[in-house]
Amino acid sequence: MDITGGLGELTAQVIPPSRPIPTLADDVRELLLDSPRSLPPKYLYDEAGSDLFDQICRTKEYYVTRTEDALLTEVVGNVAATVRPATVFEFGSGMSRKTPQIIDACCQVGPLATYAAFDISPDALRAGGEGLRQSHPEMSVQLFVGDYTAGLDALPVPEGPRLFLFLGGTIGNFTEPEGIRFLRDLAAKMEPGDFLLMGADRIKDRQVLHDAYNDSEGLTAAFNQNVLRVLNARLGADFEPEAFRHDAVYSEQNAQIEMRLVAMQPQTVTFGILDEQIRFARGESILTEVSRKFSRDSLERLVRSAGFKLRRHYTTDDEYFSLVLAEIGNFDERL
Ligand code: SAH
Ligand code: AVI
Repeated sequence: MDITGGLGELTAQVIPPSRPIPTLADDVRELLLDSPRSLPPKYLYDEAGSDLFDQICRTKEYYVTRTEDALLTEVVGNVAATVRPATVFEFGSGMSRKTPQIIDACCQVGPLATYAAFDISPDALRAGGEGLRQSHPEMSVQLFVGDYTAGLDALPVPEGPRLFLFLGGTIGNFTEPEGIRFLRDLAAKMEPGDFLLMGADRIKDRQVLHDAYNDSEGLTAAFNQNVLRVLNARLGADFEPEAFRHDAVYSEQNAQIEMRLVAMQPQTVTFGILDEQIRFARGESILTEVSRKFSRDSLERLVRSAGFKLRRHYTTDDEYFSLVLAEIGNFDERL
């Protein structure tokens, strides 16, 4: 069956890095062979990883997605009336599950010419794009695949005014300097009249946080272990994912979930393609992701230190999640 309504398959344009960034092999040599061992979180999102993330979003413990979705329902009318965008441009869009209600609200206040999305996972990107193209055949859907930490110089931006989206609390998967750098790159693409709507997860009861990253169906564990399958597939490694235990703990000191894989017994892993070996002692771990949680102040500080002016800060009654609507500051503030 042709699910594209006869328009042909949506293709994603590849966006090359605009500054030199490490390859997977470089990251393995730099970060995994060294101690403490870590990997950048972007490798979690191959096709299987994106699918597992999508399933995590539906678990009873992972309040993040449904909380943000409900908050969006409350505020999209206000956001749309403020921005009146010609383009909605989403970063880290995944399967664009929360996007339809934003697009619908924007269409109610004026013509929306374009939905554009930029993600590292082509499969998730296409799934989200197809859905929106079918529900809004009048709208141009433009997909871009690449690494948003690599600079945005080569990324085309359709006509303004533009509403940029960065949802899900994904800003928390950056360290503070990485987050500022990404937001500054984004601010550099923006013009007066453009806005950023960004979701951020808030500091809350530690048990609620712990449970969200340790769901009872084991989906977060599978998502975490899947990164080892990515290394097996792309670098000819021989990890046994089940020989590593999922560990996700909330560090109150750093206000972040720290997700690790812990070797359950001593083991040696060989990377066929790299001619490298790693010897893991029992209990040795790999940091695979941090997920930072924000206070109202730390979130607003982050947005401002990246050169944005805050227009609105929306939050839920329980302050579990925030959405900030921000525009670019004047030139001096952006330096
Ligand atoms: N916005 C969605 C998905 C969040 S999951 C939601 O709110 O549910 C994080 C998304 O960011 C994934 O789709 C992943 O593929 C993408 N991503 C992670 N690191 C990335 C990178 N460095 N460059 C581009 N996309 C990235
Ligand atoms: C995409 N990101 C905001 C998720 C988070 O909550 O940090 C990724 C995730 N990791 C484990 N569960 C969900």
